[in-house]
Formats: sequence, structure tokens, C-alpha cells
Amino acid sequence: MTIAYFREEFMPLDGVHVSPLDRGYLLGDGVYEVIPVYAGRLFRIEAHLARLNRSLVAVEIPNPFKTGEWRQLLEDLVARNGDGDQSLYFQVTRGVAPRNHAFPDNVEPVVFAMSKMLPERSAPAPLSAVTRPDNRWGRCDIKSIALLPNVLLRQQATAAGAGEAILSRDGFVTEGAASNVFVVHGDRVRTPPKSSRILAGVTRDVVVDLAPGSGVTIDEVEIPEADLRTADEIWVTSSTMEISPVVKLDGQAVGSGAAGPVWARIYEKFSRYKLAETDVRKDATARDRG
Ligand code: PDD
Repeated sequence: MTIAYFREEFMPLDGVHVSPLDRGYLLGDGVYEVIPVYAGRLFRIEAHLARLNRSLVAVEIPNPFKTGEWRQLLEDLVARNGDGDQSLYFQVTRGVAPRNHAFPDNVEPVVFAMSKMLPERSAPAPLSAVTRPDNRWGRCDIKSIALLPNVLLRQQATAAGAGEAILSRDGFVTEGAASNVFVVHGDRVRTPPKSSRILAGVTRDVVVDLAPGSGVTIDEVEIPEADLRTADEIWVTSSTMEISPVVKLDGQAVGSGAAGPVWARIYEKFSRYKLAETDVRKDATARDRG
């Protein structure tokens, strides 16, 4: 049974009842996060909570909890759901009020969180992608629950038998429908710079941080869309896809048509880092429990 957190209580997921006047439900007025959980430990929780706070500030929803309170709540929820690998989702909506576009007065934000058990993860499977024009709004840096454009773009990928849509705006690659993008030519790896056109992915940051230690240099620069066609490798990254190699783009093989050697180097480093983080956390928790 999946345990969720809703309005200050833990309860079975199917016991959660949302008001139809919740502004998240009516207007998509809220923000969210997804945190990967490895062996019961939340991966890079600080970065996710920092990004949640940036999203909340951007949409002027008061943050209902301090960082320590968030951590306690989310760790508690994960523990209630078991020990293994999980995917933790949580959102904050502006609250419940009569429908009106403008912000209501005196409204309390509503917090909902759930964590889904996953089988222990193996290396991400290579996937196909399609390219699409990025027709989303101008604040893609906000992790908004209003995801209809992303939903439609991902569905176009799914309908084409692909796993992700890679988006471009004004001739430059932005990101995936629910992931960041890396493009490899030889030893050169590029990813679009952080801006309001993309979500600052936590996995993206991990990859950029780990690259030098695996002999890879990553440039955070604009990538002309045409460069996707000549790439040796393309990767998409997210909390759910980790670092996934894209081996087919719009029906054409990317590079050799298989996961490439630069991906293998980075993924190996990522796997070791994940384990090390998990062990550090386990040790710290064991010490705390003393
Ligand atoms: N999405 N860009 C977009 C548009 C995303 O939706 C996501 C993640 C990312 C990668 O961010 P991160 O590495 O922090 O997960 C980039 C989550 C997983 C989702 O919507 O389910």
C-alpha cells in the first residue's frame, strides 16, 4: 500500500481527497519536485529543496516548511513506504479558494507528497527520441505542475514509438519534454546553459560536476539544432531517466546507433557516486541512531 502525505497527515494514497476548488486542480497553480530515492536515501535532497524554493518564490507561493522540516517530512514518507529504490513526488499548490485567476487572499498552500516503490535500478536502456519545436512558455525554469505542453510533446514521442521529445527554440536545442539534453561530438560534450528556457535539472548538475573526474569536459553553451544530426552521442538526463543514451533520433541512428563510450564513462562515474552518496547517508543515519 502506497502511503502519501496530504495536508499535514500521512495516509494511504487512495484515502487522499482533493477539493475541486484546489487551485492546482482548477488552474495548474502550483509547483513540484521529483527526487530519486536509492536504497531508501533521497538523492541530492538539498538541491531539490533549493529548486522548490526558487519555484515557490517565482510564483509567489509562501514556502510552507523550512528546509529541515521538509527533509524530515520527506524522509519519514520514504521510510513509511519501505527501504528500496523509490521515486518521490511532491507538490505545493496555492490553496483552495473560489475560482478566480488572481491570487485569493488568506489562502493556505496545500502540500501533497507520494513515493512510488521501484525495482532496483539497472543501467538506463538506450532510447529513441523525436525532435519537436519547443512551444512551451517563457519560464521553463519554474517547475510548474501546469505541464500540458510537456504532456503533448511527450505523447508525440510516444505515438512515434520514441521515449522522449528533444525540443528546439529559435534554432537552438533547449531540453527534453521531461529531461535535459547533452550532445557529444568526439570528446566534446555540450549542454544548453541554464536560462528561463530550460529547467535547471539536478541530474544535469550532477553530470556537469562529475565530468572532469572522468576525463570529460562539458561546455554549457547553446547548441544549434542542426548539430543533433551530426552528433556521435546524445543523452537525456532526469531524476527518473538518470543518464539515458539516445541511440535513434527521428528514425536515424545517432552515431554508431548504440550507447557510446563517453556515455559509458560518465554513467560509470554516476553509478559510483550514487552508491557512495547512499553509503555516506546510511553511515550518518546509523550514527544519528547511535
Ligand atoms: N522532470 N527538464 C524538464 C522539463 C523536466 O521535467 C525534468 C524532470 C528535467 C530534469 O530535471 P531533474 O534532473 O532535476 O529531474 C528537465 C521530472 C522527473 C518529472 O517531471 O517527472
